[in-house]
Amino acid sequence: MEINVSKPFAPAKFKLTPPKDQFGRSITYLRLSVTDRCNLRCRYCLPEKNVHFLPGNEILNWEELHRLTTIFAQLGVIKLRVTGGEPFLRKGILNFLYEASRLSFSKGIFLTTNGVETLPFLENLKVFEIAGINLSLDTLQRDRFKSITRRDLLPKVMETFYQTLFLGIPLKINTVVKAGLNTDEIESLARLAEDNPVEVRFIEEMPQLSGNNQKENGWQFNRILSELQSFFPNIIPLPANGSTAGKFKIPGFTGQLGIIAGHSRLFCSTCNRVRVTATGLMKTCLYDNGVLDLKQLLRTGAADSEIQNAIREKVSMRMFDGFSAYATRGGVMKQSMAAIGG
Ligand code: 5AD
Ligand code: SF4
Repeated sequence: MEINVSKPFAPAKFKLTPPKDQFGRSITYLRLSVTDRCNLRCRYCLPEKNVHFLPGNEILNWEELHRLTTIFAQLGVIKLRVTGGEPFLRKGILNFLYEASRLSFSKGIFLTTNGVETLPFLENLKVFEIAGINLSLDTLQRDRFKSITRRDLLPKVMETFYQTLFLGIPLKINTVVKAGLNTDEIESLARLAEDNPVEVRFIEEMPQLSGNNQKENGWQFNRILSELQSFFPNIIPLPANGSTAGKFKIPGFTGQLGIIAGHSRLFCSTCNRVRVTATGLMKTCLYDNGVLDLKQLLRTGAADSEIQNAIREKVSMRMFDGFSAYATRGGVMKQSMAAIGG
């Protein structure tokens, strides 16, 4: 091979072109679940008893997780969200986040947490410049929290809520809207954004292993919006900017509101994300059953470049939307939301 000596050799610095799917959508966002374990048992997510969490050797160890995040960063992914289960239940999470914060996730590292054990970590998260926290919160009533999550832990979650705001870490609230659970609290939950700089996001319930049924639930995007309009008639839609949430502003409110149509799948056409489950299964759609076994590649000595190529290939084959992914995956959803990380 002839080498052009007039040009200096550029060591491993090249322009990143993130993986693209067959419809031209670039993947720039990785959602990584670091554990399937959770200290709550939210009714729409996990059963009350006999929850079988995965044995330790089936989930990726920290070294593997660090290698994977590095590989995704090298592929041009610029946003990382760390999820669970509950990520703060896993020992070593802080060190992992610190290492991830040194990679090139220019849009930042985000976390999704239920807030129960999060408080002691917040100061460090601030130091690592964590770009934002999504806190799951379906009710502001203690008894009801106990009934939804089967644990009496609302006060701890609210401490996390206030301390996150106090530290100035950008905060979003995730509220799953479910008939018979919390639909009478839509107004009071929305009012969290009245005086606080938070985005309160109402989430359509997704079908789950526990067999819940969105058709029975009936609280989809339009109904949630009508409910909000009945309390706040001058609610204004905001540009979505590629977000999965329809966003809204209420005049006079410090924060804003969002509605996430995860079940209606209204945002697939701009989807920029892939998910990796705690077992290292890559999903190019929430509704597929996993398209690439990254754990197997990691544990059989594959080189970084092979893993990158495999990721690019599977991304290129991505389905157009959640309906086609659902139709082609064959069989029922294999993982619970606790294993996928939302
Ligand atoms: N439908 C919608 N959202 C869900 N989550 C968990 N289970 C479901 C479901 N069945 C959400 C939680 C959390 C995020 C990780 O996923 O509320 O905020
Ligand atoms: Fe609730 Fe999230 Fe835990 Fe599921 S993973 S039980 S939604 S806190």
